[in-house]
Amino acid sequence: MIIAIDGPAASGKGTLARRLAAHYHLPHLDTGLLYRATALALLDAGKRVDDPVAAVEAARGLALIDFDEARLRTREMGEAASVVAAFPEVRAALVDVQRRFAARDGGAVLDGRDIGTVICPDAEVKIFVTASPETRANRRAIELAGRSQKVDYASILQDIRKRDARDSERGAAPLKAAEDAAILDTSALDVENAFRAALAIVERRTSAVA
Ligand code: DC
Repeated sequence: MIIAIDGPAASGKGTLARRLAAHYHLPHLDTGLLYRATALALLDAGKRVDDPVAAVEAARGLALIDFDEARLRTREMGEAASVVAAFPEVRAALVDVQRRFAARDGGAVLDGRDIGTVICPDAEVKIFVTASPETRANRRAIELAGRSQKVDYASILQDIRKRDARDSERGAAPLKAAEDAAILDTSALDVENAFRAALAIVERRTSAVA
């Protein structure tokens, strides 16, 4: 079974994807890490993130092991990832690795922006996770504070709106729900209830297919 989870920044899709993967004993790929790692490789090489030629080279040269999550999961790297992710050639360079992961025996859970639309259009289950920008900014602020990073709610909200616009307005594989995705709005749900709602979607989809 392939479970494709898409949604905007800080919608809770990563947490849901991890929990669903654990529940169904499936491997999980957070595809945002690929774009974050591409951006980090560029910056470490002293290149600009808006340099398309260098960005493609960085994406092609990614080593998929030993991701330094502490460096990848910062706010700055999320922003930089969103810039490199808008280059169609960068996206193309990362398609195969994601499809190979999804094709593992038994299936997989992948989360990102274009999993249900581009990477795994035939996934048995597609969930588009969303929440209001204010809810997402709040969650991000709590998460950053938990990692002792500086928190300024207003600028986090501004970042989220900017990232939403860039991710959904780009020409290449923009952030959008697949036509056959179930929409899960987690604005009024805590983690536990969001997980239950996601489980109910998976069960519904898989019993409809069987
Ligand atoms: O999910 P995230 O915040 O780690 O993603 C960082 C950026 O990477 C996001 O703003 C857009 C890009 N991204 C993408 O374009 N496609 C994906 N499948 C995953 C992430």
